[in-house]
Amino acid sequence: AILRSIKTSLFRGNQCRAFSSEAVPDRKVAVLGAAGGIGQPLALLMKLNPLVSRLSLYDIANTPGVAADVSHINTRSEVNGYMGEDQLGQALEGADVVIIPAGVPRKPGMTRDDLFNINAGIVKNLCQAIAKYCPNALVNMISNPVNSTVPIAAEIFKKAGTYDEKKLFGVTTLDVVRAKTFYAGKAKVPVAEVNVPVVGGHAGITILPLFSQATPKANFSDEDIKALTKRTQDGGTEVVEAKAGKGSATLSMAYAGAIFADACLKGLNGVPDVVECSFVQSNITELPFFASKVRLGKNGVEEILGLGPLSDFEKEGLEALKPELKSSIEKGTNSVLLKL
Ligand code: NAI
Repeated sequence: AILRSIKTSLFRGNQCRAFSSEAVPDRKVAVLGAAGGIGQPLALLMKLNPLVSRLSLYDIANTPGVAADVSHINTRSEVNGYMGEDQLGQALEGADVVIIPAGVPRKPGMTRDDLFNINAGIVKNLCQAIAKYCPNALVNMISNPVNSTVPIAAEIFKKAGTYDEKKLFGVTTLDVVRAKTFYAGKAKVPVAEVNVPVVGGHAGITILPLFSQATPKANFSDEDIKALTKRTQDGGTEVVEAKAGKGSATLSMAYAGAIFADACLKGLNGVPDVVECSFVQSNITELPFFASKVRLGKNGVEEILGLGPLSDFEKEGLEALKPELKSSIEKGTNSVLLKL
């Protein structure tokens, strides 16, 4: 790539420009739900990402203001705002990565599943447009309940004849972010060095952090591990309660969404060994979708990594989560919405 850019630069007689813009491929990222609690800080973080050349911000309301604001930041990408369904096609055309934080968030006392009726309809419409305007894009699904919205997206893409299981991701990165933070705090180790895989799904007990595989190693009692596991599983609810009716995690979610989208872009650009946990079509268990470590590449999922050795506590957690995860997946796959 460097040789190619030198050649291009000599040809054009403009070395600096060629190095800065052509060594890194052009990549369009679209954020759907860009004016929301997650969408706005996520738009900001994607504007800061040098791998993005075009940032497309779509929402049903308030996008012009968000786009104008973000567009003044002096970083690489060109920003465009789109509002309303008649502009959705333009927002999506040519996108390499589509991030979906559109939909309603939880209020205290609600489970993610309580969001199903509203968000399933939103996700359905957005995925139909993705199938039409950017069928090859990597789709990063943030809208909850992820355990059901990802299977819905898969069915929509199948119906449209565009489904590629390597390109559909449920974003579970926030569970990993939380597990790392809570583990580092308890183990008193620098958080930047911590790694913790989180597998299963993205709701309550379906979130299964594998602290037995966490690095650097710490000497935790069974009770400590239980408490860390529970705090990771309830992390979203902790924020929902603290926000007391004003929504769910937005800032930490935007960070997590930006990390995952960055990993997708790196994979697309051919960076080796990009591994993140994600909820994808999978055969590492008997369930059709499952979150685990995934190697990302030029076509999306390059390899789904196995679960590795589990502690007895994690083995129990794995068996306990399967019925709930199975029924959430089936709720998505069999949704009546898909028949309409
Ligand atoms: P929010 O209500 O602040 O923002 C949602 C945005 O979506 C709004 O701007 C709204 O106008 C927009 N929207 C609604 N219908 C749309 C449509 N048809 N097309 C495009 N945009 C549309 O909600 P927030 O806090 O940003 O949360 C968004 C979603 O993310 C929720 O479903 C929430 O449960 C989920 N979430 C997922 C997490 C995860 O770890 N995967 C973590 C936290 C939240």
